[in-house]
Amino acid sequence: MTTTSPPTTAVAARAVDATKIYGEGETEVRALDSVTVDFERGAYTAIMGPSGSGKSTLLHCIAGLDTLTSGHVFLGDVDLSSLSEKKLTQVRRDRLGFIFQTYNLIPTLTAMENITLPMALAGHDGGNKEWVDRIIDTVNLRSRLTHRPSELSGGQQQRVAVARALASQPEIIFADEPTGNLDSRAGAEILEFMRQAVHEFGQTIVMVTHDPSAASYSDRVVFLADGTIVDEMHEPTADRYWTSSSNSEAEPCSGSRCEGSSPISCDSCSPRSRSSSVFRS
Ligand SMILES: Nc1ncnc2c1ncn2[C@@H]1O[C@H](COP(=O)(O)OP(=O)(O)O)[C@@H](O)[C@H]1O
Ligand SMILES: [Mg+2]
Repeated sequence: MTTTSPPTTAVAARAVDATKIYGEGETEVRALDSVTVDFERGAYTAIMGPSGSGKSTLLHCIAGLDTLTSGHVFLGDVDLSSLSEKKLTQVRRDRLGFIFQTYNLIPTLTAMENITLPMALAGHDGGNKEWVDRIIDTVNLRSRLTHRPSELSGGQQQRVAVARALASQPEIIFADEPTGNLDSRAGAEILEFMRQAVHEFGQTIVMVTHDPSAASYSDRVVFLADGTIVDEMHEPTADRYWTSSSNSEAEPCSGSRCEGSSPISCDSCSPRSRSSSVFRS
């Protein structure tokens, strides 16, 4: 082992006193208020919290997609704020994967071209072919590789996005509501695959979700409210979430489309009337 190799650190990413303020004066919004949190290497961490609590802001800042007002974010030992724009772009390209709620695939490229694009940009051509093949089979896209995004269902498009993030075996993958636009079955397949990637292949994943059943696939849940971390849960289950005192007023979704598989108002079902249905995003 060498001290310069990022994978030797137990912490894959870290925020220290991370503060993000949007706007100024009367319109000022403190989206993150002195957040300090570690994300362990080889672990699947979920970030949960009400809509507007700062989940996406935290994820974007840690992934170097946005900058902090004050504080620091580290990828391994590297302080992202110390990097030039050019170096930061390189780090994002070579060391990070990002899965967006809205897939963000390139419409003119086929599924396969989308999956291998980050590796092509990094100059690695097809990457590790055996690994890419394994991912394609695991996410069940073999018969869809020559299709363009418009010829794929939402679930298939998100599987392409997940495969794209995993293909280059980045040090850490950030996912913002990756199953938010999927039905519960397609969502469960993606979540199960991401969990497998962590536990069998040592991938590190940090996932934002407002859905306790999605969070239950993770190893640890960090709860955000009003831009600060208010709670944490290890080895979460949706059941434990509902019996936790801070969430006791929440109720399972009674919508018809998710068939109650989502403990809150899922994206497929109409919002519940309760104003305390805070875990929507
Ligand atoms: N670009 C922006 N400009 C101004 N305010 C923003 C911007 N992005 C987010 N915010 C505000 O910051 C807070 C946190 O937002 P966000 O991180 O998107 O929350 P979440 O992902 O938990 O729903 C919210 O009050 C939101 O309105
Ligand atoms: Mg968000």
